Amino acid sequence: MTRGRFITFEGGEGAGKSTQVRRLVARLQAEGLEVVATREPGGSPGAEAIRNLVLTGSADRWSPMTETLLMYAARRDHIERTIAPALERGAWVVCDRFADSTRAYQGGAGGVDPALISALEAQVLDAARPDLTLIFDLPVEVGLARAAAHADASGHAETRFESKGSAFHERLRAAFAQIAAAEPGRCAVIDAAQTIEEVEAAVWGAVQARLPLHV
Ligand code: TMP
Repeated sequence: MTRGRFITFEGGEGAGKSTQVRRLVARLQAEGLEVVATREPGGSPGAEAIRNLVLTGSADRWSPMTETLLMYAARRDHIERTIAPALERGAWVVCDRFADSTRAYQGGAGGVDPALISALEAQVLDAARPDLTLIFDLPVEVGLARAAAHADASGHAETRFESKGSAFHERLRAAFAQIAAAEPGRCAVIDAAQTIEEVEAAVWGAVQARLPLHV
C-alpha cells in the first residue's frame, strides 16, 4: 500500500484557509481519492479538548512557551490517532494548520527559542511530515478585518490570537515568509488577497504541479 499524501494549509488570521481546504478536498475526492480533512489545534477528541483551552480566554492566558507545549501535546495525539493511520492506509490528509503554525506563532511572533521548536518537531512528528504546504499570504490589516467580521457573524470565542495586536501579526507574516523561503521544495506561497475562485485555482495548480495524483 502506498503511503498517502499530506498537505497542510498555513498563514495568518482571516486568510480564508478553511474555505479552501473544503474546496481542495472536494477536488481530490472527485479524482477518486480517499481524503481526510482535519485541522490544528484539534483533529482528534483529545486534541479538540486542548484546542478549547488554548484558543479561548484573554490574549495573555498562556505564555508562548506554554502554548508551544500545549500545541505539541495536541499535535502528538492528532498524529497518533488521525494523521498517521490515514496516511498508512493510503488516504490523503489535508490539514488546516500544522507544525509551521507553531514555528510562526509561538516562535517567530511569540519569541520561543526556535531550537526548542525544532527539537519538538524532531521528536514528535515522526513520519508525519507534510509533502506540500500552502502558505496563504495577505496584508495583516486585511486578514484581521476579515477575521473580525467572521467572529462577529459566527459569534465564535476563539479569538485569543486575533486579539494579540498588529505588531504580533506583522512578525507572524514575516515568519511564514521566512519558512516559505527556507523550504521552497515543500512550500508554495498563495496570494490570499485574490478572489475565492482565484485562490482555489492557485491551490489546485500548486497541488497538480507538485504531487502526482495517481501513482
Ligand atoms: P484557526 O482555526 O482560525 O486557524 O485558529 C487556530 C489558531 O491557533 C490561530 O490563531 C493560530 C493558532 N495556532 C498557534 O498559535 N499555534 C499552532 O501551532 C497552531 C496549530 C495554531
